[in-house]
Amino acid sequence: MRAVGIHGGRGNADALYIEDNVADPVATGDHIVVRIKAFGLNRMDIMQREDRYPYKLLPESGPILGVEFSGLVETLGPECKADFQVGHRVFGLAYGSAYAERIAVSERMLMHMPDDLDFEEAAGIPETFFTAIQAVHLVGDMQPGQSVLIHAGASGVGQAAIQVARQAGASVIFATAGTDAKCQLCRQLGADHAINYKDTSTPDFAEVVARETNGRGVDIIIDLVGQSYWHRNAASAAMEGKIVIVAAMSGSVIEGFDLRQLLNKRLSLLSTTLRTRDAAYQVRLRDVFVEQILPHLANKPALKENGRSLGVTVDEVFPWQRVGDAHKKMESNTNAGKLICVVDYGEV
Ligand SMILES: NC(=O)c1ccc[n+]([C@@H]2O[C@H](COP(=O)([O-])OP(=O)(O)OC[C@H]3O[C@@H](n4cnc5c(N)ncnc54)[C@H](OP(=O)(O)O)[C@@H]3O)[C@@H](O)[C@H]2O)c1
Repeated sequence: MRAVGIHGGRGNADALYIEDNVADPVATGDHIVVRIKAFGLNRMDIMQREDRYPYKLLPESGPILGVEFSGLVETLGPECKADFQVGHRVFGLAYGSAYAERIAVSERMLMHMPDDLDFEEAAGIPETFFTAIQAVHLVGDMQPGQSVLIHAGASGVGQAAIQVARQAGASVIFATAGTDAKCQLCRQLGADHAINYKDTSTPDFAEVVARETNGRGVDIIIDLVGQSYWHRNAASAAMEGKIVIVAAMSGSVIEGFDLRQLLNKRLSLLSTTLRTRDAAYQVRLRDVFVEQILPHLANKPALKENGRSLGVTVDEVFPWQRVGDAHKKMESNTNAGKLICVVDYGEV
């Protein structure tokens, strides 16, 4: 089969190319081989491309990038028991190897695609929604009526987190993003307050949270930014609030970190990752997704009429020959939602 390779094993976006004669995956055990139609980009793909991601420590990860995909069931392993059949439209999460024509994954990580979802949208859902579910539910343990602050609200993960928090009954959702258009998108997805953190003429997110909560603060902060937000996060958290660290896009070292910021409010500082989780944990996330989110994706047009749908915003779809351009767009921070590549089989 063909897959996306990296010239020299690591490099910049221009090092990505379509490699021929890559070994085909095999459907052993409960694994299913899926013929990939589309795959989603994630920031860890950039880190792995640059050889800064410890994927070699993950037993099921190989050198081929990519953790989410959509496609058609092609071959079933001898121990498969679920209701997947050859030709079914599926999407799922993998430990790696989704930038390819075919992938083998456990049937427990696959999901049937709702009829009204296209391959491009479906490919961008697993990583973002599973991450949001674990941040909001499994780690954050958000309860209905709690208030939430979500940073990088227009990122793939941020958008999913806004929707998952809304679905879970958040009383008020604050989000931050870097342009007015991204803030508008956050509001459309369910944020009550969206703060453009680059607009210095408007109040900062900590001021908005303090003003709108009468100084109480928020119960949960889902943070993808890290360093530059730490002090304002601590100021924005309510007594016994939780700060869930999902990423540290601005940096990871905090100048002037003072434990009293935690002690004074009895704050919980939590962190989480998805790809390093074992299969049982990921299956748990999949099951929460199938139960709570998937039915609403299936009803998307109806929900859209009410202005409230669950789903991903696809920022741009690239033919996979232009995967390097897709990486460059993600590196430029200009995408508002998922970047997707479609695999070209040369069909007419
Ligand atoms: N822990 C986990 O399990 C897990 C799982 C998935 C992803 N992640 C991580 O979560 C992060 C987001 O991933 P994604 O795929 O959702 O990203 P994405 O869709 O590419 O969006 C990232 C956005 O974050 C904002 N951003 C970047 N640097 C920033 C900074 N220094 N300060 C403030 N905002 C910044 C930018 O938007 P603005 O215009 O708003 O600045 C950028 O467009 C990545 O670091 C990724 O590795 C973690």
